Amino acid sequence: MRIIPVASGKGGVGKTLLAANLAIALTRNQRSVTLVDLDLGGSNLHLVLGESLVWGGDAPSGIGSIVSDSSLTLADIGRPTEYDGLTFIPGDGEIPGLANLQAGAKRRIIRRLQEADTDYMILDLGAGTSFNTLDFFLMTSQGLIVTTPTPTSTVNAYLFLKNAVFRILQNVMPRKSAGGQLLESLRNERAGLKGTYIPRLLDELARTDPEQHSRCVAQLSRFQPRLVMNMLEDPKDSEKAGKLRRSCRQYLGLELDHLGIMYRDDLQDVALSSRLPIVRYKPQSVLSQAVFRIADKLISSEAESSDGFETAPADESYQEATLEAESDFAARTDYVEDLLHTGALSTGDLIETVKMQQIELNQMRKENNLLKTKLVRALKQGYTV
Ligand SMILES: Nc1ncnc2c1ncn2[C@@H]1O[C@H](COP(=O)(O)OP(=O)(O)OP(=O)(O)O)[C@@H](O)[C@H]1O
Ligand SMILES: [Mg+2]
Repeated sequence: MRIIPVASGKGGVGKTLLAANLAIALTRNQRSVTLVDLDLGGSNLHLVLGESLVWGGDAPSGIGSIVSDSSLTLADIGRPTEYDGLTFIPGDGEIPGLANLQAGAKRRIIRRLQEADTDYMILDLGAGTSFNTLDFFLMTSQGLIVTTPTPTSTVNAYLFLKNAVFRILQNVMPRKSAGGQLLESLRNERAGLKGTYIPRLLDELARTDPEQHSRCVAQLSRFQPRLVMNMLEDPKDSEKAGKLRRSCRQYLGLELDHLGIMYRDDLQDVALSSRLPIVRYKPQSVLSQAVFRIADKLISSEAESSDGFETAPADESYQEATLEAESDFAARTDYVEDLLHTGALSTGDLIETVKMQQIELNQMRKENNLLKTKLVRALKQGYTV
């Protein structure tokens, strides 16, 4: 079984969209896929998948029932979907406080997930760096981290990975060991872990606790998270991935692979309101094709690693993502042209859209001028006081 957790530092970056559509994409070739809503406290995967959930009654409901009933397995709560081979495990709207899982409950969920009989298991996680989320993410060494090109989102992706690295170190080193103590003392310092760079920390560990140092290095070298950059508007947006990669390398000693890009696509809103995943609603759309491409890369990287081949070096994965960003951008324009030619979009619609954009632009220009005037006035007043 391949476990594929989908995480992010910042919320609303497209984890659920990716999890649902990737799960469907992976069912091609007769593979079995289990899709689990682990965004405890914020479950909404069923909406993106188009599943209507009826809660209540005696039937085991979602992942929370595993917490309340130790005899249940995943097979008891899995729901077949309209997609062949895809089983869905809902989150739990019903159980208050599920977001704050106790350690024992979390361990039981992890155990049940690991026991499941399926080719792929996709975990849709909540945003942020709670220990629960980190531990679900670390069920495998190659989880997906989703970000958008905005600075807040990439910084949060970096912070998520930094937290994951610290969680690994914390799990590896016994508390009482010299290494464990070093980590603990950093945690208690005022600047805390904020200014701590992993390569430097490892150097110090090599001096103070060589045994734990080599265990940490071994564990960290296995940690190979993969990046998905979503909601691109422009090919230039894909450059933001390079910066994130450099920060991870420099400060975390981590080589982040690039699994692919996805453009923002207005069709997604329509798909959502039609209660259909985009890969079902418009499989030919640029966004759906990007999801299929990510699924293909996952499958081929898995074939390579099981054959004993090295996976594509990180450099190549970034070059490929840059090319994808350029070709998808062109495909988006072609798509509008196609819509025009086939009559799905009339010239009238297009003119209307351009007009609306002109109006919005003018509005923004006016607001801009107003702000400028205010600023100049404030500065002048500042100087005279
Ligand atoms: N590529 C895209 N194009 C257009 N809309 C998108 C795209 N990706 C995501 N969205 C939209 O952005 C919103 C947030 O996406 P989604 O719910 O998947 O994010 P999330 O990371 O799971 O959020 P949360 O952290 O709240 O769980 C949704 O309305 C979704 O339809
Ligand atoms: Mg979500």
